[in-house]
Amino acid sequence: MTFSQEEFYFNNLDLSLEKSWELLTSGKKDRHSPLHTLAVGTVTADGTPSQRIMVLRDVDRETRMLRFNTDARVSKVADLDNGGAISILGYHPDAKVQLRLSGTARIEREGAIAEEAWEQASPYGKRCYLADPPPGSPVDAPTSGLDPAIEGQKPDAKQTAPARINFAVLLAEINRIEWLYLAHTGHRRALFFWNEKTDQWDSGWLVP
Ligand SMILES: Cc1cc2nc3c(=O)[nH]c(=O)nc-3n(C[C@H](O)[C@H](O)[C@H](O)COP(=O)(O)O)c2cc1C
Repeated sequence: MTFSQEEFYFNNLDLSLEKSWELLTSGKKDRHSPLHTLAVGTVTADGTPSQRIMVLRDVDRETRMLRFNTDARVSKVADLDNGGAISILGYHPDAKVQLRLSGTARIEREGAIAEEAWEQASPYGKRCYLADPPPGSPVDAPTSGLDPAIEGQKPDAKQTAPARINFAVLLAEINRIEWLYLAHTGHRRALFFWNEKTDQWDSGWLVP
């Protein structure tokens, strides 16, 4: 993109929204993208914000859905049961774009999406869900939570099968995108808000 093209893009709401989804989609596909791992924030039962890094597994622009994989026994799952509010943050240094997304999220342990996600997971990925006791449990000594017999080796399908019950997908439906573009000449900031009545993104500029 030449500077004039860049200037054209960052002064245009539609192109900036387009770019936001493009960056997320490439973040899903490219594990080297800085948007492949995102900070995902939930709110605990006592109202405390809680964030963690998660791998972006899928992006569906049509349904405004981002998918992450998770252990079904962890704290973020409990947080989402308390109302489902979610905040997702990423920064792409080459694109000079920060994306702050929010919406509602749900956990699915079963169903087509969870089944397909499980099938797509690598043996090592599946092995994480074998942790016993569950992730976050206090223990007396350092541990991976895995049976030593399965550590340090590529597990086979029979070994990872019992992990399926602990696996879930986190599906975040995005209804707000805050876009920040860093430019030498002066930053730009825009807000895109999903309008349920018109089924379209409303948009507007903000002072950066
Ligand atoms: C690079 C990286 C990628 C991670 N990816 C995931 C992920 O895709 N899903 C997940 O549940 N946790 C992932 N984690 C671990 C979480 O950050 C977190 O420690 C864990 O999920 C427990 O979080 P919770 O107790 O808040 O639910 C990842 C951590 C790092 C550092």
